[in-house]
Amino acid sequence: MCGIFAYLNYLTPKSRQEVLDLLVTGLKRLEYRGYDSTGVAIDSPDNKNIVMVKRTGKVKVLEEAIQENFSGGEYSEPVLTHVGIAHTRWATHGVPCERNSHPHRSDDGNGFVVVHNGIITNYNDVKTFLAKRGYNFESDTDTEVFAKLVHHLWKTHPTYSFRELVEQAILQVEGAFAIAVKSKYFPGECVASRRSSPLLVGIKTKTRLATDHIPILYGKDTDSGKPQVLPRSESTSEFMPLEEKEVEYFFASDASAVIEHTNRVIYLEDDDVAAVRDGTLSIHRLKKSLDDPHAREITTLKMEIQQIMKGNYDYFMQKEIFEQPDSVVNTMRGRVRFDGNAIVLGGIKDYIPEIKRCRRLMLIGCGTSYHSAVATRQLLEELTELPVMVELASDFLDRNTPIFRDDVCFFISQSGETADTLMALRYCKQRGALIVGITNTVGSSICRESHCGVHINAGPEIGVASTKAYTSQFISLVMFALVMSEDRLSLQQRRLEILQALSKLADQIRAVLQLDSKVQELAKDLYQHKSLLIMGRGYNFATCLEGALKVKELTYMHSEGIMAGELKHGPLALVDDSMPVLMIVLRDPVYVKCMNALQQVTSRKGCPIIICEEGDEETKAFSSRHLEIPRTVDCLQGILTVIPMQLLSYHIAVLRGCDVDCPRNLAKSVTVE
Ligand code: F6R
Repeated sequence: MCGIFAYLNYLTPKSRQEVLDLLVTGLKRLEYRGYDSTGVAIDSPDNKNIVMVKRTGKVKVLEEAIQENFSGGEYSEPVLTHVGIAHTRWATHGVPCERNSHPHRSDDGNGFVVVHNGIITNYNDVKTFLAKRGYNFESDTDTEVFAKLVHHLWKTHPTYSFRELVEQAILQVEGAFAIAVKSKYFPGECVASRRSSPLLVGIKTKTRLATDHIPILYGKDTDSGKPQVLPRSESTSEFMPLEEKEVEYFFASDASAVIEHTNRVIYLEDDDVAAVRDGTLSIHRLKKSLDDPHAREITTLKMEIQQIMKGNYDYFMQKEIFEQPDSVVNTMRGRVRFDGNAIVLGGIKDYIPEIKRCRRLMLIGCGTSYHSAVATRQLLEELTELPVMVELASDFLDRNTPIFRDDVCFFISQSGETADTLMALRYCKQRGALIVGITNTVGSSICRESHCGVHINAGPEIGVASTKAYTSQFISLVMFALVMSEDRLSLQQRRLEILQALSKLADQIRAVLQLDSKVQELAKDLYQHKSLLIMGRGYNFATCLEGALKVKELTYMHSEGIMAGELKHGPLALVDDSMPVLMIVLRDPVYVKCMNALQQVTSRKGCPIIICEEGDEETKAFSSRHLEIPRTVDCLQGILTVIPMQLLSYHIAVLRGCDVDCPRNLAKSVTVE
């Protein structure tokens, strides 16, 4: 959902060419957030102007344009201070084209240039205001008004600092944004801010940082042009802004864009304005609220650069599918003790007594994250003995769903930034419910705004189609169910069975991944078809929904996940000898009912692909095409059945020539409603 990246060096010599390379690499890491068009803005060689390059399409196209236009000569001279901003776009306002690509600029020959992620909802009002004052607009975007607004403020308030200009501008705009602004009138400076869209600052210095926090500065600038520090006590000397001699700063939508440069980052909060001037970073807020912590912590990222590289795989998605034997172990690491049958979820353990007293559990998410809730609902009902509601965040909000103080609401999100999920979280929080975040992204908005939570530890997921995050979300919710039933004597046998199954899961996933070439052969049978129906019920219904979503988003084929119990109520009419059908029929409590559905399909000349348990000859006899998976406990089957679906959608997408990691019209982190 748009990626923004900005770079600044201070007394650390780098040529413009190196800075351009750095910006392009940053964009490549963020490309999964949007890939409709890209652009960069850097200082011109005489430092008096700003040069922009924008292209429709992926970062590769921009890279080629940069190589053609900016190689050698003045671009290879080392520069001590340099600012560059960059953007990769997922179009919301205005079709993908060069004119609508970021950076956007003010009217005065690139006086102010801005990159933006989010939506400025009142952009029409701001546009009308500026148009009346003679401003012309060249794009169809909401973002352009921001560059022009800053310019207008600069004209009308010539004494304002760069930071103050941006700060005044953000007071005028509504909606969601993460922005980075650069100006030819303020060389060597960059100002960035966020509201409801993610943004972090990466800090790289030659020596160890002398501080682990940056103070927050409040209020208006004093006459000297420096903002005031409002300290914890009345002393102003308690905190000083970060002032390092040789330093590089990065502003980025997420950590994957900075990790190869530094692991020291600050996650900005809504309405923080981060400004770099003369190599000094300051974080400023106009208003001070009671619960402000006075400083922003400098966090050390645990991520490794290898985690965001493709390695020997052709696509990130493929790599992430094959990482699942490890990612599920990482989700359980330090939490599940198989010898003592104990589970500790550090992030929620203090809240368990309160959760046990709740009226109901609500599981809320979008897309794949929602499916992880569908997949685990039955087990949660069984082990918690509480009513469990599963909700799509957008629909939940549309319905103004009643929420009570004694509800416990889980927000499941890989990115931790999905706007619908975040809005639903705020809605429930306002109504006094306990908020539990289940996310994969440390420092994300959902993480920070939850009362407590479980980090799924799946590692960075770059492929736009979610795979390993799903299985880790699934396991996190299973672990929660186990924690909730720890003291229920009647459930101990069941808990033991699940714990034993969890201990074997990684090896069983490895065994399922061995089916890859067989799945590829099945994909060859299917890839030219228009549609694929995926049927199952009970614990495997979520796999049907998730499998169909994967097929749709990656292959652009129609696909539908069908609850097998509903077959005879309508979908059976679709079945004939030419309709591709895949059925999940495992030896669990709904086996007999699934067999009924299988027979209904075969008696209409349907020839389904069957996913069944290893050695289940009786079920296999119904079709010549089957995939056998290892036996596990019923409530974990969904993890083993979803992997063939991930592989199948991947292979069909490759055979159809689709871009597996960047499906058309989609982006990884959907930060608009
Ligand atoms: C599908 C997919 C999406 C996301 C959804 C929610 O493969 O990735 O359906 O699951 O956009 O995203 P998160 O989990 O980041 O909230």
